Amino acid sequence: MKAVLIIALACAVIGCTDTSAPVPTPEYDPTPYVLDTASFPNGFQSMPLPTDYPLTQQRVELGRMLFYDPALSRDGTQSCASCHIQADGLSDRRTYSVGIRGLEGTRQAMSVANLGWHRRGFFWDGRVATLREQALMPIVDPLEMDNTLANAVSTLSSKQHVRDQFIRAFGSDSITPERMGIAMEQFMLTIVSGNSKWDKVQRGQATFNEQEERGRQLFFSEFDPTGKVKSGECFHCHGGPNFTNDRFMNNGLDDDASFEDIGRERVTSNPSDRAKFKVPTLRNIAVTAPYMHDGRFTTLEDVVRHYSSGVKQSSTVDILLQFSLKPGLGLGESDVADLVAFLRTLTDESYLSNPRYAKP
Ligand code: HEC
Ligand code: HEC
Repeated sequence: MKAVLIIALACAVIGCTDTSAPVPTPEYDPTPYVLDTASFPNGFQSMPLPTDYPLTQQRVELGRMLFYDPALSRDGTQSCASCHIQADGLSDRRTYSVGIRGLEGTRQAMSVANLGWHRRGFFWDGRVATLREQALMPIVDPLEMDNTLANAVSTLSSKQHVRDQFIRAFGSDSITPERMGIAMEQFMLTIVSGNSKWDKVQRGQATFNEQEERGRQLFFSEFDPTGKVKSGECFHCHGGPNFTNDRFMNNGLDDDASFEDIGRERVTSNPSDRAKFKVPTLRNIAVTAPYMHDGRFTTLEDVVRHYSSGVKQSSTVDILLQFSLKPGLGLGESDVADLVAFLRTLTDESYLSNPRYAKP
């Protein structure tokens, strides 16, 4: 108001002609965001959506702006997309994520697709229950964006186009952490990957080649004690439309003496949760190397060899891996190649280049 008055006075004195077209004042716009359910993977139930703040186009757009805005970080160098890179499946290809000033984190970045169907919390250890709370945590994480929420709010408040977008999304330009979290939650809920070769085969639009089909059988088969049929037993944990059972498990990476990251136990303080981690989705897995919470495996072949003969005994290793432990799955190199060929069919090119998830 004051600024308008000063400009008006100045113009009265020195004379101004405004040649530019009038900038429309932003207005609250509650147009609903309609999820493209036709692109949902087969088998996905409808996504449970927030009821307090229904998805709107302008909120999703605001969330996308924030996701790509380095102003959230203390020195203006890091956005969420610095570690969640679209071409890398909205994850990154580093062992540990690199945060502000080149600081290395302690875990591998996770993919942010199909989060609307996660039931048991976010992060490798599930330490937060909702996406809107989750979205604020990287901002204050000293190894990630190393900022304070108050400082992020004040930097954002100095940008007119951000304030305008808050008006379109929420009806006023009051920028609060709560609104930031809600907007980023809405953007992330719209990120769906369900158009891989696997999905096309499910819909009858493609067929696996022989190698992929052999890999599929390995992935979904039970251990056969007679040794006649080879199996990978992957589906027990990476089952369902999102290739995860959405639980926390120990997949035998280390023995009791060598756990470096206690995983889920840090959240529950329960020793029976030691070294358990969220079973990650395998969608787009071929583009998100390296693998595991600490990025210890460089290739998918190494991952499969781990399950075949490298699983370590420990107090919390999952019982479903009993045959991996003894006698071992006995997968040969051609089985490994077949399983990896199958895993590659989970890559969804249209998701990796979908303009809706790209930098606005
Ligand atoms: C410095 C790199 C880095 C930055 C910046 C970053 N993340 Fe992450 N993200 C990670 C890592 C690493 C994890 C796993 C951390 C853990 O489990 O402790 C993760 C996990 C997540 C998850 C959990 C996914 C799941 O399946 O549970 C979501 C969602 C997410 N990030 C969203 C965001 C958002 C939103 C921002 C910006 C506000 C952001 N990230 C900024 C590296 C980063
Ligand atoms: C007992 C449950 C279980 C079984 C069986 C299992 N996995 Fe996993 N898988 C996990 C867990 C838990 C993790 C994450 C572990 C971690 O990072 O500490 C994981 C991680 C992975 C990853 C790395 C994902 C990423 O984002 O880094 C791949 C790839 C993978 N599994 C493939 C397979 C394949 C292929 C099979 C079958 C040969 C299989 N898994 C069998 C539980 C299981």
